[in-house]
Amino acid sequence: MTAQVIDGKAFAAEVRGKVAEHVARLKEKHDLVPGLAVVLVGEDPASEVYVRSKGKQTTEVGMKSVEHKLDADTSEADLLALIDQLNKDDSINGILVQLPLPGHLDEDLVINSIDPAKDVDGFHISNVGLLGTGQKSMVPCTPLGCLMMLREHHGSLSGMNAVVIGRSNIVGKPMAQLLLGDSCTVTIAHSRTKDLADVVRRADIVVAAVGRPEMVPGDWIKEGATVIDVGINRIEKDDGKTKLVGDVDYASCAERAGAITPVPGGVGPMTIACLLANTLTATCRANGLEEPEGLTA
Ligand code: GUN
Repeated sequence: MTAQVIDGKAFAAEVRGKVAEHVARLKEKHDLVPGLAVVLVGEDPASEVYVRSKGKQTTEVGMKSVEHKLDADTSEADLLALIDQLNKDDSINGILVQLPLPGHLDEDLVINSIDPAKDVDGFHISNVGLLGTGQKSMVPCTPLGCLMMLREHHGSLSGMNAVVIGRSNIVGKPMAQLLLGDSCTVTIAHSRTKDLADVVRRADIVVAAVGRPEMVPGDWIKEGATVIDVGINRIEKDDGKTKLVGDVDYASCAERAGAITPVPGGVGPMTIACLLANTLTATCRANGLEEPEGLTA
């Protein structure tokens, strides 16, 4: 079997289109403009690229984008004061503090100081608890993007065997919760899992989110399974140049899978599209308006 390629870039453009339409309607009917504030502490080059891209796409769908760039040695008190100010600002519906933070700042404390209703990353402990108990919450963007692609490809996921490789708070754990919510039988595998190959071979859905380049070979994949590759790893090729690869070995997995997301152009573009979707959802909830269909879990 040669896998169907799931085009995350095209699907993300579709999601952004839906968000933009809804944003235009909010403006027209309610004179509302959703606002997203992104806070970046320090000068991590990868984070700066992400933040710039987020700002550009936020403006493109008609939302207000606010960036706060703080020095690397910003004190915790100053950062918490900024978050408090953003929590109280009615023109801001979503707050995202770019991670990782410099080492002297307590990430949990900072994230949990964000108003849960504005926590468009879905990292606040309240949102984690709501998701875990099947209640309405803000859902982390990367797993939400993966779920949307899976639903689009399969329709119902009910009864499918899903294996999530990776147990991070940002991807692995919320991904597992979302798949469980869609009635999959879910296994979370990780670096200590015994006989990982056999565990993965049972999966109808494999979500790889470990951050290890090309660690899943094709012969672990059940014929016809769907492979969602969350990894983005830069590796050096034989000629000294670098390239981006995922957590699965794309060529061999694509030979056995029924469908697969490429890297780049798979999960990556969906993450920012879902951030915009979450900001729209947060705006609708804050104003007691109907939520957009198909853009939440
Ligand atoms: N750093 C890498 N990915 C993310 C993300 O999804 N959200 C935040 N806040 N920081 C990140």
